[in-house]
Amino acid sequence: VASKILLKGGTVVNAHHQEVADVYIEDGIIVAVQSNILVGDGVKIIDATGKYVMPGGIDPHTHLAMEFMGTETIDDFFSGQAAALAGGTTMHIDFIIPVNGSLSAGYEAYVKKAKKSCMDYGFHMAITKWDETVSREMEIMVKDKGINSFKFFMAYKGSLMISDELLIEGFKKCKSLGALAMVHAENGDAVFEGQKRMIELGITGPEGHALSRPPALEGEATSRAIRLAGFVNSPLYVVHVMSIDAMEEIAKARKSGQKVIGEPVVSGLVLDDSALWDPHFQTAAKYVMSPPIRAPGHGKALQAALSTGVLQLVGTDHCTFNSTQKALGIDDFRKIPNGVNGLEERMHLVWDTMVVSGQISVTDFVRVTSTECARIFNIYPRKGAILVGSDADIIILNPNSSFEISSKTHHSRTDTNVYEGRKGKGKVEVTIAGGKVVWENDELKIVPGDGKYVKMAPFNYLFDGIEKADSEYLSSLRAPVIRSKQTS
Ligand code: URP
Ligand code: ZN
Ligand code: ZN
Ligand code: ZN
Repeated sequence: VASKILLKGGTVVNAHHQEVADVYIEDGIIVAVQSNILVGDGVKIIDATGKYVMPGGIDPHTHLAMEFMGTETIDDFFSGQAAALAGGTTMHIDFIIPVNGSLSAGYEAYVKKAKKSCMDYGFHMAITKWDETVSREMEIMVKDKGINSFKFFMAYKGSLMISDELLIEGFKKCKSLGALAMVHAENGDAVFEGQKRMIELGITGPEGHALSRPPALEGEATSRAIRLAGFVNSPLYVVHVMSIDAMEEIAKARKSGQKVIGEPVVSGLVLDDSALWDPHFQTAAKYVMSPPIRAPGHGKALQAALSTGVLQLVGTDHCTFNSTQKALGIDDFRKIPNGVNGLEERMHLVWDTMVVSGQISVTDFVRVTSTECARIFNIYPRKGAILVGSDADIIILNPNSSFEISSKTHHSRTDTNVYEGRKGKGKVEVTIAGGKVVWENDELKIVPGDGKYVKMAPFNYLFDGIEKADSEYLSSLRAPVIRSKQTS
């Protein structure tokens, strides 16, 4: 195991700058970034001439080993991370689901699941009910456990969905802790009605999934979450933005100065919903995720929003089930486990779709796949940068090579791939995680247990100015009226 590595002659890319330079790594840390670094014996030298040397991808949105919809995702922390590393992603942030509403029980369960990690990871925590205990446990998660973000589900009525009352309480609590509130924005009550309507119409197949939860329901919930966050002056992060409707709400809020972050996911950027109408159940079911993959046009609009900064970073929502699991919904689309793959494909697809097409620059690629995530979740510049002192999580991408996606060659445990057969330009040829070469010559060299838990501290840059805005709000209130006791 070479703990000393020299990457020679590549174009080193950070979010705001690129230059030809060597990168020298020792014991997991970047020790030097400059031209013509000279080294002695015992150093592994990798020639990166003509290639890009970039921070490894950070995926802000994954579900590994998650119990969901009567089953468990087929990718666990090892197989999901193996896929990630083969595709140039070196860190991910997974969502802890509380156990019977208990955050600490959920945390302990995920600590166990993550023991087999082969790359670094962090946690968000979902909040699925509200009481004093939950409120107190949130504090423990932030202060002791390194969690600085909480997700609220406005959909999945009957299981994960929470009320507006909880949403407001949750936003306030997050804000008081300096933690970021995140939402899955779909109107769960309306989705429930839409699903019933489809079943009554005899539409029981995967197309019913799309028809029952149209973009308007995502737009409504996004607008509501944004307005409620604005009402309590709390920053907000909208996960998996899938529609023009939701994106436009985010654009409007950001234009008015509200602190709202929008995360598109790869499936929403590059796929459309046509396969949901495929006559073969399995072909259609593999595309079922929530919010649904939308009609043609939404993806292009989300790409444009990403390139203009209306949306800020790209996730995957990697949440995989094999065909047997998808078949749970063979007679009723409501029982198809929701989720698609993406951890292995994200970097390649964003590169090919956004950079090769000329929509974003190479530095922007680094920003939307890595740096922005590190900044938002407060782990920059340890992660998300190729700087002296940063963790040695690095990829080498060859712009002149190409990739091809297939379930026959991918590293996820799923037997299908929603990007089956896609080809494109640009290939991650080398992945270095924690200072070790883990992907080279199309081969993984990974060890369970090598991955470290990355604690995330509260109060990211989104909280700048919040206190001032609060005091301005208070002073803007007109003085209360003093009324006498008389009733007439
Ligand atoms: O369909 C999806 N997105 N499955 C994962 C859970 C979620 O809503 O993010
Ligand atoms: Zn979700
Ligand atoms: Zn077919
Ligand atoms: Zn998700």
